[in-house]
Amino acid sequence: MQTNEQETAMSHTVTQAPTAPEGYFDDLQARALSPGWAKKTPQMWPAPRPRFVPAVWRYADARAALDAACAFVSPEQAERRNLIMVDPIADNIYPTCRNLVAAYQLVLPGETARSHRHSPNALRLILDAGERTFTIVNGVQIDVAPGDVVLTPSWHWHGHSNFGDEPAFWIDFLDVPLVQNLECMFFEDHPQRNEPVTSHEPDSPMRHKRADLERGAREHGTFDLAAECLKTIGVQSIGLARGSRKEARPRIDNNLYTVMNGRVRFTVEPLGAVELTRGDVIAIPCWHAFAIESLSEQAQLIRVSDEPAMRALGFRDVTLP
Ligand SMILES: [Fe+2]
Repeated sequence: MQTNEQETAMSHTVTQAPTAPEGYFDDLQARALSPGWAKKTPQMWPAPRPRFVPAVWRYADARAALDAACAFVSPEQAERRNLIMVDPIADNIYPTCRNLVAAYQLVLPGETARSHRHSPNALRLILDAGERTFTIVNGVQIDVAPGDVVLTPSWHWHGHSNFGDEPAFWIDFLDVPLVQNLECMFFEDHPQRNEPVTSHEPDSPMRHKRADLERGAREHGTFDLAAECLKTIGVQSIGLARGSRKEARPRIDNNLYTVMNGRVRFTVEPLGAVELTRGDVIAIPCWHAFAIESLSEQAQLIRVSDEPAMRALGFRDVTLP
């Protein structure tokens, strides 16, 4: 039988939490180790918690700012004369959403944006351009016109020339933030500055013409156009008749929608309902429910997303109970 003194001594031993030896944590830090049992912030959570927020950019604003930039920025000085759509979250200086970046670009008549290639995949969505505006992809000169989508897959040389007499405005979309996170960035300027043209293909498979995109959207609702060509970026032309409403449940992919025709209303928290017109862009980060409605007879949008990257990595197969 235990004495009272023995019981007191045992309970004292049990309730006193053991402590780390003197200097243990300093020693860990010196060896670049961190105690997983005392993380300052959790590193996993039950469902996606996007850091990026829904945001809208207006073509009219960007176009006016690009026009003003012509007075002091030439393609000689800058790799590209463009305005990046930077998601308005703390400390962000570049991405438009987690894995993608978008930028409005202007090439004036007579200007050439020099050729380069990079590991990021890219595409451009032509908003306004006159005749004789070209993108050169791996030596192939491709005409571009308003409403077209031109693809430049990873490591393809590309440059742009405006030999016409109207300014050319387009939106570039790239997977640069994804490539940066994966740390597989490569970039090279063309040794001849402007890549020599070896052939002229108005119907290049890299070019998706406005008429085809509009027809695909009208007839099928959603028309997938970059499948197989861009491994990380999904591009879809979406058609919406007046009164029709598309509702999307939270998903893991990040989306950038551009209105190409008509007026469209997006509803997404915390923005509420916002109306977009031609050339306007809305970023809808992952795990946001949203709705799209057409306010015009027939609206057309281009959706650019990281869906193929998510699918390839297997994360689209994860489902919650
Ligand atoms: Fe580029």
